[in-house]
Amino acid sequence: MIGRIIQPTADGSFTVYDERVGECFHSIHGAVQESLHVFIRSGFDWCPKNTVRILEIGFGTGLNAYLTLRRAIETKKEVEYETIELYPLDIELVKSFARSIEDEALLLRLHEVPWGLRQPIMPGFLLTKIQADVTLTDFSGIFDVVYFDAFSPEKQPELWTEEIFDRLYTVMSDTSVLVTYCAKGEIKRRLRRVGYTVEGLPGPPGKREITRAIKMLK
Ligand SMILES: C[S@@+](CC[C@H](N)C(=O)[O-])C[C@H]1O[C@@H](n2cnc3c(N)ncnc32)[C@H](O)[C@@H]1O
Repeated sequence: MIGRIIQPTADGSFTVYDERVGECFHSIHGAVQESLHVFIRSGFDWCPKNTVRILEIGFGTGLNAYLTLRRAIETKKEVEYETIELYPLDIELVKSFARSIEDEALLLRLHEVPWGLRQPIMPGFLLTKIQADVTLTDFSGIFDVVYFDAFSPEKQPELWTEEIFDRLYTVMSDTSVLVTYCAKGEIKRRLRRVGYTVEGLPGPPGKREITRAIKMLK
């Protein structure tokens, strides 16, 4: 059993601390704030399509999926959301986490979806949760937005390799984007070598910069 502990963050939302990895799932400066900034505004909102196909690396608390769903409702976009997670959270821990979330029931609904099945959460939002190791996954399908939300490169170097970025690049559509909270120079160089156009964007509170990697084929 992996030791995981709920922890408050500065914006009033909660995160999870993973004792095995020695890192939190989100920024302690604000979990919701970080997720909105990095993934929703810099990734989801960047995509001009009416139907957005998303691949997430690391489902974890489901916060990114939940905030995407709410944003999709606001913007009247359709979403096909696929997420890969090797170590699903214990449901009791999810319930504690969910108490800090505005629409607690909606977040719990995302967790109730069985692994390995494509399920509608509501009209226009399909969720597929895959329990697998990202390093061993043959990505398939085609995606417009990739939320790269693994633990940091210091803690999980095997997930931030050029080889994984390259495999992601091949399943991304001609106009697509990968976003991550990590802004390390070496990670940006790896993304550039794979073919992305990489830009640093201002980060959320407590973080100077984040990274957006664009794939644009004419
Ligand atoms: C930084 S957390 C972010 C989780 C999530 N996006 C959220 O908002 O809660 C990273 C997640 O990646 C998962 N993970 C770690 N190693 C993995 C692997 N090899 N394959 C798939 N998921 C992995 C962890 O269990 C954790 O849930």
